[in-house]
Amino acid sequence: MKHRKLWLTMTILALMTAAASARYFSLNPQVFMTQQRLTYMANLTPLLLHITGGTVALTTGPFQFLTGLRGPHRTLHRWLGRVYLLGALAAGVGGLLMARIAFGGPVARIGFAVLALEMLGATALALRAILRRRIPAHREWMTRSYALIFVAVTFRLFLIPTALGAPFALVYAADAWLSTIVNLLVAEALIRRARRPRTSGARPLTGSTESAPAGRRTISSPTSAS
Ligand code: HEM
Repeated sequence: MKHRKLWLTMTILALMTAAASARYFSLNPQVFMTQQRLTYMANLTPLLLHITGGTVALTTGPFQFLTGLRGPHRTLHRWLGRVYLLGALAAGVGGLLMARIAFGGPVARIGFAVLALEMLGATALALRAILRRRIPAHREWMTRSYALIFVAVTFRLFLIPTALGAPFALVYAADAWLSTIVNLLVAEALIRRARRPRTSGARPLTGSTESAPAGRRTISSPTSAS
């Protein structure tokens, strides 16, 4: 059950990152990122908008990939989807505002801004696809959207070498780009694999059951919406 293990690992990492981020809700500056403590204290509103939205999107996202929450149980999928959309919007707008004042100089700041715009764009395209009842295209854009939200996890994992002495500012700035690129490549690999006709009983993580390219696949019946 390769995909179940992948989903479980992704969900546990997402929940751990969301739990760690929730320390900001204490409003205690002592728990803020040390290098940015004063900046965060002066920009609490965009920071809290960003972290609230990010926590919501990061924790609800994994459950949208469960095939069990679609089909007959799609009411829950739809409601969670609306919550995810609001979370992603707040995380993206807050992320854009925070990008201007991020640590790591212009390289990191532009990297974060590009990430925020890509995530907002992918989420908007996922919404447009579902409103047009293009279910496979919706799944693919949601995979990209969540991969970009999941940068919150990858970014922190890639900072681990700094604990072993790697220069923090340098790794931080490179990470702002690298984590996005890695997550997008993984998302594209998963999407391509899900598009392939299935020869075994394995279920793709994206839950797609069709094999034609997304642009040509349209399900018009509302009863078949995920
Ligand atoms: C599109 C996705 C995201 C973008 C563009 C983004 C952008 C940013 C930016 C620019 C900062 C300021 C960094 C700095 O001061 O150097 C930041 C900080 C932060 N973000 Fe995000 N972020 C994203 C996703 C998330 C998610 C999903 C969470 C989960 C809760 C999250 C949690 C945080 C936290 C806790 C901080 C404070 C810094 C820290 O303690 O690590 N972010 N983010």
